[in-house]
Amino acid sequence: MSQELIIDKNLSDEELYKSLQSQIEHLISSDEPVISGLSNFTSALKQTFNKISWVGFYIRKKDFLYLGPFQGNTACTIIKIGNGVCGTSAKEKETIIVEDVDKFPGHIACDSGSKSEIVVPIIIDNEVWAVLDLDSYEYSSFNETDKIYLTKLVELLKEKLDLTKLQII
Ligand code: SME
Repeated sequence: MSQELIIDKNLSDEELYKSLQSQIEHLISSDEPVISGLSNFTSALKQTFNKISWVGFYIRKKDFLYLGPFQGNTACTIIKIGNGVCGTSAKEKETIIVEDVDKFPGHIACDSGSKSEIVVPIIIDNEVWAVLDLDSYEYSSFNETDKIYLTKLVELLKEKLDLTKLQII
């Protein structure tokens, strides 16, 4: 199996997501450790979209989210449920799209260059297991198309991997 992605940067975001979805089917194996699959997943997203400055997981344990596999600059390691965009998404169990992070009360600025963000909760048995967080250096980088396809990618991850096997602390 090849780990190399084929990415045509001329495609629309929707087409890029579709291409990524079929490639991730082969990139991630249920026979491999969860952390390996999550790591390649973040890399595949970052490679595919120029608009992404940072992409990664914050994995929940009780009332906190802990930094998991990611691509991009170093980031804050612990976020309380209810705090920032990630903690709010985890609390509400909803995807949050932020067009301008300065207008989101309590936004946590791990990277001062970040301008917009989307956070998708990963819910297993009605509990938030983690959130998937994507940042951009441009305003309004993420929209309903991102929400739809990131939700599909998260569903694919849940099908492929037994995520609850990952012990974070
Ligand atoms: N901005 C996030 C914090 C995580 S970083 O973006 C990597 C938030 O407000 O929750």
